[in-house]
Amino acid sequence: MTQPAPRKPVRKAVFPVAGLGTRFLPATKAIPKEMLPIIDRPLIQYAVDEAREAGIEQMIFVTGRGKTAIVEHFDHAFELEATMRERGKALAVLEPTRIPPGNLVAVRQQVPMGLGHAIWCARAIVGDEPFAVFLPDELMIGSPGCMKRMVDAYGEVGGNLISVLAVPREEVSSYGVIAPGERRGALTEVRGLVEKPKTAEAPSNLIISGRYILQPEVMRTLESQEKGAGGEIQLTDAMARMIGRQPFHAVTFDGRRYDCGSKTGFIEATLALALEREDTGPAVRAMARRLLG
Ligand code: G1P
Repeated sequence: MTQPAPRKPVRKAVFPVAGLGTRFLPATKAIPKEMLPIIDRPLIQYAVDEAREAGIEQMIFVTGRGKTAIVEHFDHAFELEATMRERGKALAVLEPTRIPPGNLVAVRQQVPMGLGHAIWCARAIVGDEPFAVFLPDELMIGSPGCMKRMVDAYGEVGGNLISVLAVPREEVSSYGVIAPGERRGALTEVRGLVEKPKTAEAPSNLIISGRYILQPEVMRTLESQEKGAGGEIQLTDAMARMIGRQPFHAVTFDGRRYDCGSKTGFIEATLALALEREDTGPAVRAMARRLLG
């Protein structure tokens, strides 16, 4: 009897970060949206930390014009480190920004043609391996993190996985929505996927919340993917075509999610994290009481 081929581990992550960030203008005119900080760490840092916690080694950024600050952030800052060392300052604060040589890759998406197209731009780097996708606007907080949970689930069921969460019905038309099948604990079978459906036509209120583990075959599906919702090449449409050919599951994350693509979501994330951090919590709590009182 032949043994099934061992499942390849998830070692690579794709971060689509080419978006223009128009919702945060003028702040994002010269600075990538992903570099806006929640307290003292840029948004992209939270996603990279979550990837590392899940055992992912290679970080692939799909960038565009004006986005080089993201790559700089994860580079070795020689002058800064030399100066800090000379002045006796601790370098530990820079630890999360270190990515081992060869594990940081940037590819460019020259034209904004949608999330599916952005992911497809990373096909040569992804190669023939399963890979994770992180949408950094979706800030996922929990312990273990969302991707760690997904990698654990992947070890069980393999195939393709997406993170989902329930939202009020009237919000579904802004997201990718799943048609759920059988549910077992945090895992739900995915029977169908639709990008930005009309509320009345949505198959559920479970939305794709910005984390994916995908098989490399999706790249070939994306190759021939036609434009979908909003006239863009949609990752959701390409994934929908994989259902039935490979296992497809959704993971319901039991942590918290902040939609940092919106101003109020960004402020909520800042407040929530500032309140729970030891270094800022007490002062921010007192400040909030003062402001509300
Ligand atoms: C993208 C995806 C969508 C997903 C959403 C999560 O949409 O296409 O399926 O639910 O991110 O934030 P976008 O926000 O780029 O319109």
